[in-house]
Parts: sequence; structure tokens; C-alpha cells
Amino acid sequence: MSKTKVTFFCQNCGAPSAKWIGKCPSCNEWNTYVEEVVHKESKNDRLQLFSGNKNPKQSNKSILLQDVGLQDFPRIAVPGKELTRVLGGGIVPGSLVLFGGEPGIGKSTLMLQLALRLKNLKILYVSGEESEQQIKMRAERIGVTTDNCFILQETNTQNIFQQIVEIEPQLVIIDSIQTLHTSYIDSSPGSVSQVRECAAEFLRFAKETNTPVFMIGHITKEGSIAGPKVLEHMVDTVLQFEGDRNHIYRLLRATKNRFGSTNEMGIYEMNGDGLREVTNPSEILITARDTPTSGVAISATMEGNRPMLIETQALVSSAAYGTPQRSSTGFDLRRLSMLLAVLEKRCGFRLGVKDVFINIAGGIRVEDPGIDLALVCAILSSNEDMPIPQDVCFAGEVGLTGEIRPVNRIEQRISEAEKLGFKKIILSSYNLKGINVNSYKIKILSAAKMEEVFSLIFG
Ligand code: TYD
Ligand code: MG
Repeated sequence: MSKTKVTFFCQNCGAPSAKWIGKCPSCNEWNTYVEEVVHKESKNDRLQLFSGNKNPKQSNKSILLQDVGLQDFPRIAVPGKELTRVLGGGIVPGSLVLFGGEPGIGKSTLMLQLALRLKNLKILYVSGEESEQQIKMRAERIGVTTDNCFILQETNTQNIFQQIVEIEPQLVIIDSIQTLHTSYIDSSPGSVSQVRECAAEFLRFAKETNTPVFMIGHITKEGSIAGPKVLEHMVDTVLQFEGDRNHIYRLLRATKNRFGSTNEMGIYEMNGDGLREVTNPSEILITARDTPTSGVAISATMEGNRPMLIETQALVSSAAYGTPQRSSTGFDLRRLSMLLAVLEKRCGFRLGVKDVFINIAGGIRVEDPGIDLALVCAILSSNEDMPIPQDVCFAGEVGLTGEIRPVNRIEQRISEAEKLGFKKIILSSYNLKGINVNSYKIKILSAAKMEEVFSLIFG
């Protein structure tokens, strides 16, 4: 017998409550409780579709860690170096991957491309958003053909599992988890309890059948994946696709990965025929100019374990209105304010009355603090209207006292700069320890304080 029950759920964190309350006691958000009808099934009600045997699973026995074998789970190789790296070396069988990103960023495209290129696996691509024809059209655009990819337009999870039993796919892709609904809960698709329940069903499916599942998830205005935070706890890996929709570059990051590092990043380029991997990002992120321009500095940054040279741009002008404006694209605005305060207080530049605009080329968002030095130099260059020579690049963090702090993996940064033909790199004096300056063709200059950098560049 089943009974119907009404429960209130916080739409922010998913905490349930028997009655409506104004403030969520678990995440402290206001006005987030929404009534959802939960159709409670009795214990044996649910279809045991995918597990095959009707007997309940026997309880597990404890086992010594040294006796646990790893060889049973070889990873599934995926086409493309970028995705392989971000996933930590391929798809782990039985893993549940959540793939989030803003609308129109290219989630469906990347997943379809994965489905089309994994030719030796039987794949089920479930779409709750697009029709079969739309998916076919996109596949034609991508221009890869396969005879192993099944398309299913369906939003009910019970029907999806029925198809899964029939087709027995080796990889399931869900586009998207917010459009699905299970018959066991009466609330509308996309509501917290639905999203959580559907995800839980696929989690059980993935673990019981050892089939990997990719779920596309929408993200909210604030940038987190729509639905309860528990969704992110449930899955093994959370991938984020980001980038500026008006630029062609897209970044793929893992924000959680039970099977690999979250440091890795993949770069893609959105073309007319789908997403193309960018294997050498530095070459495209730096604009070759005929004449040096003020306000431009090149930074040798690290994205994960990959060195990358990025162009930072700054524009400093007299404030037209009373309050000076500070605007930044691709860089943390609060950190920019801090850097400006350091320049004002420690180096005596009067930037408090100036508008300052910052841009990281290519629509890329950089979190590596090693970009500070280049950014500060770009600001000074624009402020003084003196171009920085084009063969100079920077790597260093700027501290509150105006000191230049060392950054990690300095050798890799130097090598990348050298490879791209830069003649000089400026870094922190503290970074010189342990590196052999003479082994590089590139000239390595160092500074301990911001003041020294200025004379190094313009000398
Ligand atoms: P899509 O994968 O539908 O985004 P999401 O699933 O994240 O919402 O991608 C949508 C955008 O990508 C769309 O604006 C068109 C563009 N696009 C291309 O530029 N080239 C292509 O080959 C494809 C398939 C899409
Ligand atoms: Mg889509």
C-alpha cells in the first residue's frame, strides 16, 4: 500500500520540514520552503528493474584494505586528452558524473560528442530537453557517425530504466537531471525532491550494474548546480563547463573528483562543427601585436598542472564621475581592490582617483595568484602610458606589504615562456632558490618588492 504525504523542502539545500517555515534552519536562507507532494511507496513497492535478482542484497563483509583488488576496474578510455585528464584518466565503471554549466555553454554538445566518439561502447543518450530530430541535427553538425548510440526522448525514470533493461547500454548520458521525474514522487520536475530522487535512482543503477552515468545539470543564477547540495554529495565527480558565451573558449574543470585530481582543466573551442580541443592554449591567448601597447602584460600562469601564458589587460583613466569605477573580467574584483590598495599605499601611485578596468584575454577566469604581478604591471603600464616590451612575461604573487611572493611550479612556467619565445621572465627573488638560472635560454630577472619591478621593465 502506498500513501501520499506532503512535505516542505528547502529549494536551496533540500532540507525537509513537516510544516512551512520562513527561514531554513540548515542553510539559513529565507523563503525557500516549497510544498511538495511525496508519494511514499511501501518497502517492496519499487520495481527492481535493473538489479535483475529480486533477492535483497546480502550485507557486505569487512575486508582488509590490502586484499582489495583494483584490477577489476580498468578505466574506460575516452577520446580526447582534455576530458581524459579532467576525469583523472578515463571513465571509472559504475561512476556517477554530474556535468554542470550555464545554458548554451555547450554541455549537450560535449556529451553528444563523447557519445559519438566512443565507438566501441553501446551508449544510451537520454534527452528530456530536445527531440530526436534536434539531436540528429546536432550530430550531423558534429559530423561523426556511429552505430552504437541510442537516443531516447523520455523524462520518466521508470520508462528510462525499462529501455535500459532492453538495450543494456554500457554508458548512460542524461540530458538533463532537472527535466526527469520519477513516478514515486508527485512534485514537479526540477523540484528538489524530484531531482534528488531521480539522481538517487541513477546512483543505485550505476553502482548495482557498474555502468557509468553522466548527468547534465542546470546551474542557478549564482552559479551553483540547481537543486540540493546533496546532489553534489551523491555523485562521484562534478564537472563544470564554464567560459564566456560570447567567446569561443570553454573551460572544463572538475570541482569534485573521487577518482582524480580537481586541479586539472581542459580547454575547448566552440566551432561550427562542435567543440574542438585546444592543446596549446598559450598560442591563442596571446595576441601578436605589431607595436607594443600600454596596459598589456603577459603572465605565466598555471591552470592545474598545465602552464599557460595569458594576456592581462588594464585600462586606467581619470574617473569621470565622483566615485572611481573598478571593473574586472576574469579576475576576482576584491583581489583587484587589494592590489590597487597595495600600489597606492606601498608604491605611492595615486590610483584612488582613477577608473581601473581589468580584462583577462579569451574570456578565461584565472584563479592562480601567480597572475598578480602581470596584472599590477599592466595597471602601471596603462597608468604611465608606457608599453611593456613584448618579449617580457611575469610570474609572481603580490603580498599586502608590496613584496613579490614566490609561486608554485616555477620551472614549468619558465620553460613554457621559453618555448613560446619570450626573452625575459620576471619573478620573485624567493623563487630563485633551487633553479639553475643558467640552464635556460630565457633571461630570468627577479625582484623582491614591487618598486624594483618597475625599474626592471622600464630600466
Ligand atoms: P548546447 O550544447 O546546446 O548547450 P547547453 O546544452 O549547455 O545548453 O550548445 C549550444 C550552443 O553551442 C549554441 O548556441 C550553438 C553552439 N554550437 C556551435 O557553435 N557549434 C556547434 O557545432 C554546436 C553543436 C553548437
Ligand atoms: Mg543542452
